[in-house]
Amino acid sequence: MSSIDFHEIEKSYGATPILKKVSLSIADGEFLTLLGPSGCGKSTLLRILAGLELQNAGTVLIGGRVVDGVRPKKRDAAMVFQSYALYPHMTVADNMSLPLRMRRLNAWQRLPLIGRLLPGTRGASQEIAAEVARTAEALGIDHLLTRKPGHLSGGQRQRVAVGRAMVRHPAVFLMDEPLSNLDAKLRVQMRAEIKELHQRLGVTFVYVTHDQAEAMTLSDRVAVMLDGELLQVAPPQEIYADPDDRRVAEFIGSPKINMIEGVVSAPGRVSVAGTTIASDIRADVGAHLTLGIRPEAFRLGAYSERGAISGTVRLIEHMGSDLYVHLDVAGVKQPVVARLLAERAASISIGHSLSLSVEPERVLYFGDDGRRIRAHDKPAKAAAALVRETA
Ligand SMILES: Nc1ncnc2c1ncn2[C@@H]1O[C@H](COP(=O)(O)OP(=O)(O)OP(=O)(O)O)[C@@H](O)[C@H]1O
Ligand SMILES: [Mg+2]
Repeated sequence: MSSIDFHEIEKSYGATPILKKVSLSIADGEFLTLLGPSGCGKSTLLRILAGLELQNAGTVLIGGRVVDGVRPKKRDAAMVFQSYALYPHMTVADNMSLPLRMRRLNAWQRLPLIGRLLPGTRGASQEIAAEVARTAEALGIDHLLTRKPGHLSGGQRQRVAVGRAMVRHPAVFLMDEPLSNLDAKLRVQMRAEIKELHQRLGVTFVYVTHDQAEAMTLSDRVAVMLDGELLQVAPPQEIYADPDDRRVAEFIGSPKINMIEGVVSAPGRVSVAGTTIASDIRADVGAHLTLGIRPEAFRLGAYSERGAISGTVRLIEHMGSDLYVHLDVAGVKQPVVARLLAERAASISIGHSLSLSVEPERVLYFGDDGRRIRAHDKPAKAAAALVRETA
C-alpha cells in the first residue's frame, strides 16, 4: 500500500512562500506528474515527500502513515535526480549496490577490509550482487557494471540512476526531471522506458517535469503547478480539453491556445474579433470575457457569410501533415494561430485574406480572474446554426 497524501503543505525560504497550502492525494500505483514552469516549487514538494526537506506546516502521509520526521531511507521511496547523483569514483555495480549495502549491512560490515571478515557480510554481499545483476539485466546495462560513470553515455547514466533506485524495490518512485540532460531523441526513448517500468512494477510514481509532452504521455494524472499552488489535477486529456484556469490552458498545448477578448453582446451571444458566436455560458450581457480557442479547433471558411474570424495571413509554418497559419485580425492583439491539414490548406498564401470558423462547443471561456466559465448545459450539436452573425 503506497498511496500518498499531501495535506496543506506550506514551505517558505526566509519570507518567501514557496508552497502555499498544497493538498494532493495520489493513489497506490498511480503515475502522477507535477508539471509547471521553472521555480514553481515542484522539486521542493518532491523533496519534502522524500524527506530531504522539511515543510513549515502540513502533513505528508505515505501508505496512510504520517511520515513527518521519518528519515528519508525509512520512507520506502527512492529518488532519481536530474543530475543522476552517481558517485564518479565508484563502478556502476558499486553505485547500484550502495542503497542495499546501506540498508542490509551495518557500519562495521561496510568497512573495506575488516568488514569482509565479519559474520554475515559475505552472504549479504552475495545477495546484493545478485540483486544488482538482476536489475542491471532488466535495464540492459549488465555489460556496464565494471565501468565508472565518466565512461558512460547520458542515457546509460540515466539507466544506472534508475537501477540504483530499483534495487531497493521501493513502494514509491520519485523522479525529478530525470530526462532533462538527454538529447531529444534519447529523451523520447527513455520516456517510453519509464512508462514501461511503471507498468511492469505497478508501484506509485511521482514524476517532476516542466516538459508538457512528458507529462501528457506518461501520466495517469497531471498536477499543474504555478507559484507554489496546484491549479488543476486531472488526467492529461482533461487538462488539455477542459482546463479550469486560463493559466492551465495557456501552459498546455503547442502551438499555444489563442486567447481573444470578447464581450457578451446579447443573451446567448458573444462578439469577438468582428463576429458573433452563439454561446451558452453563465455571464451577464456586457460582461468581458476571454475566449480560448485551440489552434486545431479552427476550420477553414465561414459557416455563414460573415460568421467567421477574418484576417490577413502573416506567416505559414509547414509541419508536414499540418500547417500553422498565423493570421493578423483587426482588434486582436496577438496573431491568431490555426492548425490546419496541409492538404486542405494548400492554396493559402502570405498576405492574402483568410476566414476561419470554430464550433462553439470548442470555445473555452475565462473570466477576469482567469477562472473558467462553463456553459449552462451541453451546447447544441448543429454547428452550422451556431456560429452566425447577429445584427
Ligand atoms: N534552499 C533554498 N533556499 C532558498 N530558496 C530556495 C531554496 N530551494 C529552492 N528555493 C526557491 O524555491 C523556489 C522553488 O524551487 P524548486 O526547486 O522547488 O522549483 P522547481 O519547480 O523544481 O523549478 P525547476 O523546474 O527549475 O527545477 C525557487 O524560487 C527557488 O529559488
Ligand atoms: Mg526542480
